[in-house]
Amino acid sequence: VVVTAIVHVGTLVTNDGEVGRGALGVIDDGAVVLEAGRVAWVGATSALPEGAGDERVDAGGRCALPGFVDSHAHLVFAGDRLADFVATTEGDEYAPGGIRTTVDATRRASTAALERHAQALRHEALRAGTTTMESKSGYGLTVDDEARSCRVARAVADEATFLGAHVVPAELVDDPAGYVELVTGPMLAACAPSVRFVDAFCEDGAFDADQARAVLRAGASHGLLGKLHANQLGRGPGVRVAVEEGCVSADHCTYLVDADVDALASSQTVATLLPLTEFATGSGYADGRRLLDAGARVALASNCNPGSGYSTSMSLAIALAVRELGLRVDEAVLAATVGGATALRRDDVGVLRRGARADVLLLEAPSPAYLAYRPGVDLVAGVWKDGERVVVTPAP
Ligand code: NIG
Repeated sequence: VVVTAIVHVGTLVTNDGEVGRGALGVIDDGAVVLEAGRVAWVGATSALPEGAGDERVDAGGRCALPGFVDSHAHLVFAGDRLADFVATTEGDEYAPGGIRTTVDATRRASTAALERHAQALRHEALRAGTTTMESKSGYGLTVDDEARSCRVARAVADEATFLGAHVVPAELVDDPAGYVELVTGPMLAACAPSVRFVDAFCEDGAFDADQARAVLRAGASHGLLGKLHANQLGRGPGVRVAVEEGCVSADHCTYLVDADVDALASSQTVATLLPLTEFATGSGYADGRRLLDAGARVALASNCNPGSGYSTSMSLAIALAVRELGLRVDEAVLAATVGGATALRRDDVGVLRRGARADVLLLEAPSPAYLAYRPGVDLVAGVWKDGERVVVTPAP
C-alpha cells in the first residue's frame, strides 16, 4: 500500500469544524495523508509525523478540498436533445415531454453503448473533481429497459437511483394509472436490487402528488430511500410530498412558497439545488439564500442530463450558486461536498477527516473562492479518488 502525504496545502478545506477554522474547517499550510483508500491523518504540515508518507506531493501553497459529491445526475441515456436546447434559446420553453425523445434513443441503444457513454460522462466529471456521483435511470421506462439502466447506473456511478416514474412513456399516455402500477410493481422489483434510492418527477406533465407518493412508498417497501424531483417548473406539491414521505432530498426547489421553505427547514430532507439546469433552460434560479436563512439543509448538484442541462461541472454550479442563488462561497462549497453527501446519506465523503474516503481535489488556486471568482476555468491540479491519483495536471 502506497501512503501518500499531500503537504503544504496553503488552504486545506476539511469541512470539519473541529480541526480547522470556520464553516469549511480550514487548516493553513495543511497536510493530508492518504492510506488504503482512506484519510489516515489531517493537520498542519508542521505537525506531520516525521517520515509520514511513502510518496510526498508538495501542493506548493495551492488549495485542496474534499472531492465534489454530485448527488443528482442522469448519466444513462443515448442521443442528445440539441435541437430542443437550441429551440429554448429561440423562445421555446423547456417541457418534460422531451424526455420521450431520449427514451426512444435509449431503448434502441445497446447496453454496451449505454455503458460506454455513461462512463465517458463519469470520467469527465471525475477529471473536474467529482469523486462521488449519483446516477438515475429514467430513460428506459419498460421493465427491461429500466432494469438495465439501473445496472448501468450502479456499474458506472457511485450511487444509483431508480427513476421509472420519470414520465409516462408514449405507449401508455392514455393509461397513466396502469403505468404507475407497472412502476410500483414489476419494474421496481426488477430494479430495486441495483439501487439504494427511488425517485419520481412530481410535476405537471409528469406525475401528480398521489402518484409520486405511491412510487415513494412502494420503493420504501423494498428498502429504498426516497428522493423527489420537486417544484422544478412551478409551485406544485412536490416539496411537501417529499418532506411528508421522509425523502432524503427534494431536488430542484426552483419555485417555492413559504410553506415549502418551512417544511424543508423543519425536516431532515435536503433541498438539492441544480443551478446548471436553471442556467440551461433560462428559468429563474432557486432562492438558496432563503432556504439557508430558514435553516434548511442545502446541496448543490449537476443534474447532468440531455434535456435540461448537459453539464457535469460542479465548479460552474458553485459559481452560479454564489452569484445567482445567493450563497456565500463557503456555503456553496459545503453544499457541493458535504451537502451532496447528506443527500446521499453518506458520512464518509464530502469531508477530510481521519477514516473518511481519500477523495481529494487539489486546485490550481490559493483558495476555494477561486471556483466562483474564475467561473468556467479548469482549476483542477489533481484529483485523488479512494487514495489513487486519477488526475495529474503538472504545474508549469
Ligand atoms: O431533472 N426533471 C426531470 N428530469 C430531468 C430532465 C430530464 C430531461 O429533460 O431529459 C431533470 O431536469
